Amino acid sequence: MQRLLTPEQARSFVLSHRFEGRTVGLVPTMGALHKGHLSLVRQSQQQCDVTVATIFVNPTQFGPSEDLDKYPRLLEHDCELLEREGTAAVFLPSNEAMYANGYSTFVDPPKVAQRLEGECRPGHFRGVATVVLKLSQILPATHAFFGRKDYQQLKVIQAMLRDLSVGIIAVPCETVREQDGLAMSSRNRYLSDEQRSQSLRLSKALSKAKQLADSGEQSIDVIEEAMQEELRRDGGVDRIDYATVVNAETLDPLSKLDQPAVALIAAFVGKTRLIDNQTIL
Ligand code: PAJ
Repeated sequence: MQRLLTPEQARSFVLSHRFEGRTVGLVPTMGALHKGHLSLVRQSQQQCDVTVATIFVNPTQFGPSEDLDKYPRLLEHDCELLEREGTAAVFLPSNEAMYANGYSTFVDPPKVAQRLEGECRPGHFRGVATVVLKLSQILPATHAFFGRKDYQQLKVIQAMLRDLSVGIIAVPCETVREQDGLAMSSRNRYLSDEQRSQSLRLSKALSKAKQLADSGEQSIDVIEEAMQEELRRDGGVDRIDYATVVNAETLDPLSKLDQPAVALIAAFVGKTRLIDNQTIL
């Protein structure tokens, strides 16, 4: 596996494959890789001739009181995992290469970024949209792979790529879960044993929402209340940022469950903020 350390190296790696007519799949990550990330790599391997992953803990998407400094950094182990999957190359830029002194240009994120995470984490999607656009410029791939685990992020990135005419096809990938239902996340490693079991409340609440939708329940209030109840059961989570059902494309609130919809949750277990979602209609 080739390690691409500078934007110049990265661009010429991708362009040389593109000139040969090969499709190139891009898998952006912040590292601390788990099976969720590796499933994106696998999907890229299936769909594209060449796969390039990126590992960059992007400072512009972290708020001042968030876990940027504490975010797990496991570079050598991550590279081993990527190599085992047959990844052709990994881009490992420095902060200076991505945000040189005097850097001041940012993407104004699309409308779908406004609510939910946009309200709880001001500036987060501005940082995400900016770094994903930059990575798309540095690595002009044909396809880019993103997890549904970060559902709003996926919608933000899809809208940004479309609105800014970036010629990369965004491919959504299914959420990979632990056997008991917990969505895999680099942040799960912060959880103590007790918190690990509390964190199951999120997937349980989403299953409850899906079960109600499947049984024909159309009241958003009823479904959201049931989610809250599940989140609080058995000791429960420590704080709920949101537990809501919204339009699956625009993420606008719904008055009734009569169109494609997704249930989204963000909640704290101790100091760890977890997010999860499930399509319910
Ligand atoms: P990160 O949290 O490292 O996630 C990288 C990619 O892996 C994202 O597309 C995310 O949705 C996907 N992913 C994470 N957990 C997953 C799971 N359990 N199942 C399936 N996919 C999963 O998301 C980011 O990094 C950053 O915001 C990034 C897009 C790299 C921009 O900095």
